Amino acid sequence: MLTKIENLSEYFLSYEKSIANPETFWERIANQFFWRKKWTKVVDFDFSRAHVRWFEGAQLNITENALDRHLYTLGDKPAIIWEPNDPNELGITLTYKQLHEKVCEFANVLINNGIEKGDRVIIYMPMIPEAAIAMLGCARVGAVHSVVFAGFSSSALADRINDCEAKMVLTSDGNFRGAKVIPVKEVVDEALESCKSVDTVLVVERTKTEVIMEKGRDLWWHEEVGKVDFVNKAEVMESEDMLFILYTSGSTGKPKGVVHTTAGYMIYTQYSFQNVFQYNSDDIYWCTADVGWITGHSYIVYGPLLAGATTMMFEGVPTYPHAGRFWEIVDKYQVNQFYTAPTAIRALEAFGQEPIEPYKLDSLKVLGSVGEPINEEAWHWYHTHIGKGKCPIVDTWWQTETGGIMISPLAGLTPTKPAHATLPLPGIRPIIVDGEGNELKGKGVEGNLCINFPWPSMIRTTYGDHDRCINTYFSTYPGMYFTGDGVKRDEDGYYRILGRVDDVINVSGHRMGTAEVENAINEHPKVIESAVVGYPHEIKGQGIYAYVICDMEDRSEANLKKEIVSTVSKIIGPIAKPDKVQIVPGLPKTRSGKIMRRILRKVAEKDTSNLGDTSTLLNPEVVEKIIQGAQ
Ligand code: WT7
Repeated sequence: MLTKIENLSEYFLSYEKSIANPETFWERIANQFFWRKKWTKVVDFDFSRAHVRWFEGAQLNITENALDRHLYTLGDKPAIIWEPNDPNELGITLTYKQLHEKVCEFANVLINNGIEKGDRVIIYMPMIPEAAIAMLGCARVGAVHSVVFAGFSSSALADRINDCEAKMVLTSDGNFRGAKVIPVKEVVDEALESCKSVDTVLVVERTKTEVIMEKGRDLWWHEEVGKVDFVNKAEVMESEDMLFILYTSGSTGKPKGVVHTTAGYMIYTQYSFQNVFQYNSDDIYWCTADVGWITGHSYIVYGPLLAGATTMMFEGVPTYPHAGRFWEIVDKYQVNQFYTAPTAIRALEAFGQEPIEPYKLDSLKVLGSVGEPINEEAWHWYHTHIGKGKCPIVDTWWQTETGGIMISPLAGLTPTKPAHATLPLPGIRPIIVDGEGNELKGKGVEGNLCINFPWPSMIRTTYGDHDRCINTYFSTYPGMYFTGDGVKRDEDGYYRILGRVDDVINVSGHRMGTAEVENAINEHPKVIESAVVGYPHEIKGQGIYAYVICDMEDRSEANLKKEIVSTVSKIIGPIAKPDKVQIVPGLPKTRSGKIMRRILRKVAEKDTSNLGDTSTLLNPEVVEKIIQGAQ
């Protein structure tokens, strides 16, 4: 393949070219795709306005590139291999030809039900092939999908539906998750009580859980599919037409809808997929993420399918029915590239070697890591016990907003170093700045990570609020995209991500705003005020520590704590549940009324030997009480 880098010197050469002449570089890659009309300009940008446009003037449909383009050469190749939650249930393999038919068919279902180009469609589904078919079906008709992770609560779902004024929701009767069956249709029903924009709910029958179908609104997926054929002409899209919205947490307020557009996202996800994983034509690639996150969008669905790869989807969890399930699946399908999160690695490591022993794992060629910093210990365990010392680990740093992998080794080409994301992909220009925005050049420097030139798959706006996009990403350091991460460039010039420098915490690879969790806690009628910080957690990377001031009348402390945890679960979802709740008499505040989080972080980290300067505190006496009551 023309754009696949084959060795390290070629990487350095490509990188140089991409910097010297980005337009020529990306144009050469773009030329391999199928366009209805070619562009008039490769890139146009002004970071001060968060204005970024790639391949303007061109027209295309991303599904013609992910599916139709491959039919002649790869029609009978498996596109998606699906492994169900229950290992005794039969899996499903869809070839490119079959997937194409199903996507066309589903596109017709959308059209039949009044969906038009530009309409927003919410996908709240389990990890079943229909989830990918739903995404691609939307893209085919030009509808904007917004996948909401099916673990989010009804109120989190309602917020997202209302923010983008979705016309349709795609869901299932229930979700299988390990030994549990989760009644998701019920969650949708509850959410829709506070949503006006939704006309139609399409329900996939998966668990045969009993559901209430509201007349005139709710329809069965299989019945609708039965009404259409599988001939569909893809909608012609402009390069910068919206492809999807994905909600993610920030340091302030409600989650924001990160917007990605068609052409740039397409080009970058395919390019990064091929190069980072070094995918070869008969390989079986498996990413264990959920399609509810950006990793699932870019590296289960779009990137691999655009590259004509075989991509696996797994419905279940790593520990069901046993802690060797991942490895059983690797052997069963002879997986070559395996991509997961450090939190899963650490959780499985805790079970010891025994669950791995029955499996050969000899098909594996590349291991990937994503979502949070991977600690050296977990890196070595992954390398030794899963990769048997012979598989390169690609520690891929990126974000919902970046659309694709930004800093990562190219598997087998870039020499790796534990816990280092190593080097930027071609076209990516990382820059390290200090608090004042001065560039820290050279090696052995540490600071805030920014990117100072556009790349094709970068965020275009935050849905419905462009100023928020400017303020969040382009205002801290003018002229640069600010990632929110701290980073070190070491003596080899390798990048090591140090974690968030803002009020965002990373729990099991899931991004959470401390303010968002505080807002949820404050919904409890007995809560007066709260402050949330992250603390190091052995498995999750970071845990959630909540300090709460409560009105204790007619409640025991134990009961209150339980109620607070369940309030958060109800308002956001179980993934945001605090790991520790401490009822406190007060919060350390400065004279201007700001909570001094630094102190709360230290207490949560159990590092109170040096709390730094507390002389500006309004209520220094409270600190001692907090330390005494620490969990
Ligand atoms: C944040 C983005 C990108 C897919 C999943 C998460 C952290 C991500 C790494 C890595 C260290 C990482 C960063 C980033 N992060 N990958 N390889 N090493 N940290 O997407 O929810 O948008 O979160 O995850 O802090 O800013 P996300």
